Amino acid sequence: MDTLHLALFGNPVAHSLSPVIHQAFADQFGLKLDYALILASEETFAKQLKQLQSSGARGCNITVPLKVPAHNIADTLSTAAVTAGAANTLVFQQSGVFADNTDGLGWLKDLARAETSIKGKSVAIIGAGGAAAGITPIILAQSPSALVIANRSPEKAASLLQQQTNPNFRSMSLQQLRQPGLPKFDLLVNATSIGHQGQHPDLSPESLNPEALVYDLNYGTAAEPLKNWCSKNNIRYRDGLGMLVEQAALAFNLWTSQSPETQAVLSNLGELLNQKT
Ligand code: ATR
Repeated sequence: MDTLHLALFGNPVAHSLSPVIHQAFADQFGLKLDYALILASEETFAKQLKQLQSSGARGCNITVPLKVPAHNIADTLSTAAVTAGAANTLVFQQSGVFADNTDGLGWLKDLARAETSIKGKSVAIIGAGGAAAGITPIILAQSPSALVIANRSPEKAASLLQQQTNPNFRSMSLQQLRQPGLPKFDLLVNATSIGHQGQHPDLSPESLNPEALVYDLNYGTAAEPLKNWCSKNNIRYRDGLGMLVEQAALAFNLWTSQSPETQAVLSNLGELLNQKT
């Protein structure tokens, strides 16, 4: 049986869950997998990528801080990669390197699993870094009735909505999120990295509709602070583990043309993380 050679580039990569996820996918199709974790910097990335390519690998995943360099290095790009200006998946083809970005669609798939849609809903994104930039175009494409992007540095939130003329699409500071007159949110996405500091964004339960979903793009220990806040305030909460599995399934499909089943993988991963924490 041929071995499927894949890898993840980024920094850090050591604690990535991607090897476990892709092994579970490969097992579903009886494929042998060799998934390497490659620590890389912007300086070393191009050379390391060439090495991987000439070793016979099918492609690779890309994580922080190499998603923009991966986009720039590719020979051809999917629409999602162009829109995001960043790539999380590279496929080695005869004609060169093809770049895609499966984060946004992976997130939407997991949102659908939580029986939540965006069309006509009032949405807030907290944070305006790489993760927020990745989901903003996807949210806008789904026609929300309102979108607020709030960030500690409000100018970064403003730049994500630069092209937008709809007055219901607004950027602001975290403090302004508490001002009266804002719509109550149906969906609030935490795209900050503040959970890594053991904290959660300073939110008011009154800013959310009763059935609202708080979706945290973080998972594991970084997701604990907001998860606990939501549980205390009786607010529906979902962490980013489902998005991680869904974006991986879409990448696996690009490499193998197979569509792995994701629910069992997600449940097992949740248990694995619970055992670790
Ligand atoms: P990622 O790729 O995960 O999005 P990032 O690009 O570094 O990471 O973005 C981190 C986000 O978390 C930013 O929105 C950041 O706010 P700033 O743009 O003002 O830096 C936000 N963030 C990080 N620590 C924070 C804190 N202590 N309080 C509020 N926001 C914080």
